[in-house]
Amino acid sequence: MSEIIPGLEGIVVSETRLSRVDGEAGRLTIGGFPIEELAPRAAYEEVLFLLCHDRLPSQAELAALRSDLRQRRVVPPVAIAAVQEAAERKLHPMDALRMGASLVSLNDSAPRDESRGANLSRGLSLVAAFPTLVATYWRALQGEQAVAPNPELDHAANYLYMLTGEAADAAAVRALETYLNTVIDHGLNASTFAARVIVSTRSDLTSAIVGAIGALKGPLHGGAPGPALDMVFEIQARSLRNTTDIKSEARAWAEQAIGRGDRLMGFGHRVYKVRDPRADVLNRAAADLFKNRDDRAIYEDARTVETEVLAALERAKPGRRIQTNVEFYTALVLHGIGLDTELFSPTFAIGRAGGWMAHVLEQIDEDRLIRPRAAYIGDFDREWVAMEGR
Ligand SMILES: CC(C)(COP(=O)(O)OP(=O)(O)OC[C@H]1O[C@@H](n2cnc3c(N)ncnc32)[C@H](O)[C@@H]1OP(=O)(O)O)[C@@H](O)C(=O)NCCC(=O)NCCS
Repeated sequence: MSEIIPGLEGIVVSETRLSRVDGEAGRLTIGGFPIEELAPRAAYEEVLFLLCHDRLPSQAELAALRSDLRQRRVVPPVAIAAVQEAAERKLHPMDALRMGASLVSLNDSAPRDESRGANLSRGLSLVAAFPTLVATYWRALQGEQAVAPNPELDHAANYLYMLTGEAADAAAVRALETYLNTVIDHGLNASTFAARVIVSTRSDLTSAIVGAIGALKGPLHGGAPGPALDMVFEIQARSLRNTTDIKSEARAWAEQAIGRGDRLMGFGHRVYKVRDPRADVLNRAAADLFKNRDDRAIYEDARTVETEVLAALERAKPGRRIQTNVEFYTALVLHGIGLDTELFSPTFAIGRAGGWMAHVLEQIDEDRLIRPRAAYIGDFDREWVAMEGR
């Protein structure tokens, strides 16, 4: 019998030119660029172009992509109705996004066309639709009317505009853009793998991306930043209540949680055994965002909590090399931009959508069914017993 590798850990199943995750060195390369070089400088559309075409766009190409995406922001009315109904029923935002995304293909003018051009077009429609779907859901959840997309604004700025109805300041847009770029792709993570598995059956791009949304919803993947921020809030509240300092409260909280066997959200990674480089990129973005702001205490307190949690994890689980991951600083950046914790996972999806579509296109080119095996541990040769005999 072949060796069993639970969780497919360390298994390489395909080639990609999209991103490389070096877990031992703590390096992330996106389309040839170190993440530290690319994420804080590029517009989201530039990184999207890079993943789709393996080079940065010229000015004219960037303008064309932006204009194309703007036109694709308008989604079928039934998709709007679906996310609004999901909000009325207080469904999870990722469920709303999954429902809405599956209906975007009603706009597809050539649904049976399987050419690369048609798939690229489908992928761009989904990338453009995600902010519309999430913002419409969010406003319905607040009992507010949907805000129409703003043709004057680019992808990241328009998302913030559609959430609030007001143009966001430049610092918030830059921080969001840095965040979306940081999470756009990350090797064969669970949701990307799920998308590639689906399309490897020669199914379609929309099915693959809808499946990826489902995979991203889980707290071990994209659902961690909300709880990571809640942890900081809870420690702040305890420190106020008990008139203790954040440092000792964070230490006590972490020790209790680890003692109970809890997973501390925002820490640990399947691939990174050193600090997640995305955490540093987002730490710098958070530091810029909170600079000179009145609510800077949350940033400072989060850093203290991080230090104490890492120390407690090292004491409780020596040698496991559990480090801060991307989700911890995601929480701070997105909170600093003004997003509610409920919006963290769908905002991750808005960023990751570009990586999903590029991987799906790559998998279509590879055209190899992904089909691992399982080791059967059940009985053999059972005999059928009729109902009256059981
Ligand atoms: C991401 C994650 C699922 C990767 O885990 P993994 O590769 O499956 O690692 P394992 O589950 O094998 O963990 C190894 C050990 O570290 C512990 N560990 C890993 N992450 C931990 C965390 N965040 N808090 C507490 N303990 C943790 C495990 O309990 C295990 O301990 P044990 O050997 O005593 O049983 C895990 O680190 C985790 O659950 N993190 C919290 C969720 C999170 O932040 N997700 C976002 C990822 S970007």
